[in-house]
Amino acid sequence: MKTTGKVYLVGAGPGDPGLLTVRALELLKQADVVVYDRLVSPQILDLIPAGVMRTSVGKASGRHSVPQDQINQLLVDLCIGDANAAREVVRLKGGDPFVFGRGSEEALYLSDHGVPFEVVPGVTAAAACSAYAGVPLTHRGLSHGVRFVTGHFLENKRLKLDWRALADPDSTIVVYMGLSSLERICTALLNQGMDPATSAVAIQDGTTSRQRRVFGDLTTLPGRVKNSRLKAPVLVVIGRTVSLAGRLDWFVLNKEQIDHEMAGASNF
Ligand SMILES: C[S@@+](CC[C@H](N)C(=O)[O-])C[C@H]1O[C@@H](n2cnc3c(N)ncnc32)[C@H](O)[C@@H]1O
Repeated sequence: MKTTGKVYLVGAGPGDPGLLTVRALELLKQADVVVYDRLVSPQILDLIPAGVMRTSVGKASGRHSVPQDQINQLLVDLCIGDANAAREVVRLKGGDPFVFGRGSEEALYLSDHGVPFEVVPGVTAAAACSAYAGVPLTHRGLSHGVRFVTGHFLENKRLKLDWRALADPDSTIVVYMGLSSLERICTALLNQGMDPATSAVAIQDGTTSRQRRVFGDLTTLPGRVKNSRLKAPVLVVIGRTVSLAGRLDWFVLNKEQIDHEMAGASNF
């Protein structure tokens, strides 16, 4: 079998099309096929020229997502074969392909099958959603480091995180996929002696016009998030820098919404 194509593993950022890189936009315009995830925003999909083949491999209302091994094989099949095989395949992923995006698994599979690929980094949710929420990830005197962790866990299995190291008051913790395990995460940090008054925020649909934020601290955030009925995608940021959001709120959606969000905050 002959390889006739190349795969571009492209990060689309967390939602706002303005955060797409110049390289990503260039590739979307010249692609033969775009294979995209659920987290890629409709505004970004609108940038794909008409006539370009699009394949969704993410969960759509009520339907299951395509299993990872099938996605891997699809990418290979699109590139290997006769002259009709697609040449430029854009594998478009939310955020950055190499941050909790399984982009490296796809790249390894392509590499093992002799398919050329290129990685185009995207703005990861931690950087973008926190900035749009008015939360710096680090700030002199408040936080000198940041940790990205996943809150995703398999049924009946414990989250294998180094809670002692995470409970560092001088660092910021960013939790991806942490909505359903939020209570466990906060409890684990409290058990390691972290200050219960540590500020925290849950950000839904960050960087988009649907963005919602729920503020609190390690003791109040889980209950507030539950009451607010936040839905995925949600990013959680924990640490002292969250307390700056009240002063750094540049992405103002509407005054009423901000007032509502701030009413739930204990640290402003
Ligand atoms: C499978 S991970 C993909 C992360 C992605 N590769 C990145 O670099 O941002 C999905 C998680 O990213 C976070 N996420 C991505 N986009 C988001 C958004 N617009 N608002 C809030 N959280 C987001 C959520 O925690 C979501 O559950």
